[in-house]
Amino acid sequence: MASRFLELDYASALASAVGAAHGLEPAEIQAAQPAVASAIERIENERGSGQHRYRDLPDDKAMIAEIKKTVKRRSPGVENLVVLGIGGSALGNISLQSALNPPYYNLLPAAKRGGPRLFVVDNVDPVQIGALLDLLGPSLKKTLFNVISKSGETAETASQFLIVRDLLARKLGKKKLARNILCTTDPAEGVLRQVADAEGYETLPVPPGVGGRFSVLSAVGLFSAAMCGIRVDRLMQGARAMSKSAAEKRVERNPAAMLALLLHAFYVRGKRMHVMMPYSHQLNDMADWWRQLWAESLGKDQNEHGQPTTIGPTPIRALGATDQHSQVQLYREGPNDKVFVFLEVVKFDRDVKVPKDKAMPDALKYLQGTTLGNLLNAEKAGTEFALVKSRRPCMTIRFPAISEETVGQFIMLWEAATSIAGCLFGINPYDQPAVQLGKDMTYALLGKKGYEQHAAEFRAYEGKRAKARV
Ligand code: PA5
Repeated sequence: MASRFLELDYASALASAVGAAHGLEPAEIQAAQPAVASAIERIENERGSGQHRYRDLPDDKAMIAEIKKTVKRRSPGVENLVVLGIGGSALGNISLQSALNPPYYNLLPAAKRGGPRLFVVDNVDPVQIGALLDLLGPSLKKTLFNVISKSGETAETASQFLIVRDLLARKLGKKKLARNILCTTDPAEGVLRQVADAEGYETLPVPPGVGGRFSVLSAVGLFSAAMCGIRVDRLMQGARAMSKSAAEKRVERNPAAMLALLLHAFYVRGKRMHVMMPYSHQLNDMADWWRQLWAESLGKDQNEHGQPTTIGPTPIRALGATDQHSQVQLYREGPNDKVFVFLEVVKFDRDVKVPKDKAMPDALKYLQGTTLGNLLNAEKAGTEFALVKSRRPCMTIRFPAISEETVGQFIMLWEAATSIAGCLFGINPYDQPAVQLGKDMTYALLGKKGYEQHAAEFRAYEGKRAKARV
């Protein structure tokens, strides 16, 4: 039987492929293993004292049962599910949906969908949200809004919520709000928790100790996934298998550890741009989810002891084959400061044959009779070859197929790799202090109480700013 486990193929990252100046020697990888093994040991010990809680999610049977029960109760009659959230409270939902449900899912007739149409509002763009609310207008009664915010205070989500709550109250009546709203938030704290309790909204918990970008395998990502027919048990099965292998100290048996080792080693050698390039449209949003995980977790100006440092690989998302016609010129001939992580799918869910036609010129014969899956994978192999020829290190995460199991593995692979990389870089991957100032200034600009000092600081900055406009 073909393997159902993801494979990390890093042959094209070795010195034997791209030369000693740009690739890693096996001895170098060997030499880095003790540090990685002690990072794993540390993480496993810390798990014992309640840290790295995201690793326990796949085993949380009570949580999974509660989500499934809620889905069963809330599904009947729901035609649209709208997730209100941003960042870690939205990207997982989007990526699960595009990886595991058919493309154009929302356009399919209800009988061909696994559940309601899904809309994830991960911004506060007035044109986008205005258009969505117009679209939902006629079926507002049959629309469930899942408000997701761990902190319960995020301005984007709070404003989405206030708009929707007001619309529902006006169109359906204040007393009906609880029928159309479900909140996913901290079980005990935060403004959304207070509002949900006061107004009687059903809630699902964001497990304590699980940060936004590590929360896709909790109610944050699983509720919308299960509502839309994704088999969350299988997803968790995949994640559980990867979590088990992430505890393995022998790096050659632990893909998460190897990934962290390789990307850390390349960073230290000056390759600080990490490009993820899925050759699968289904995995494009997964790369977006990864971009947040890698960036927000590893970009830090203090080490874990509070001393100044500057750490941060820059994650870049590109899509194969589309971005061959947009980025590959730069990737091959621009600065050699990148590592490429391809996502390859061995067997696509379906394939489409290119028809044969004798009337076509000879120049098109090579395409005739092949399939688009073949073409896409040939483009991946060709692009990797071309990058290697330009001495650009590459690796491939190979999906035997895209399924709940392999997607669950992929999520846990990167989450665990992020924790290990955090240890190797000596930083805390779970906080995001730099995000706060922009939020505080937004509060100040909108006149939030308690932010008067920030407002004064902003006015002073505006006053001093040179005029430089054309
Ligand atoms: O990873 C994170 O912690 C962030 O990206 C959050 O998910 C994001 O800021 C949204 O936060 P919240 O769920 O508290 O509204």
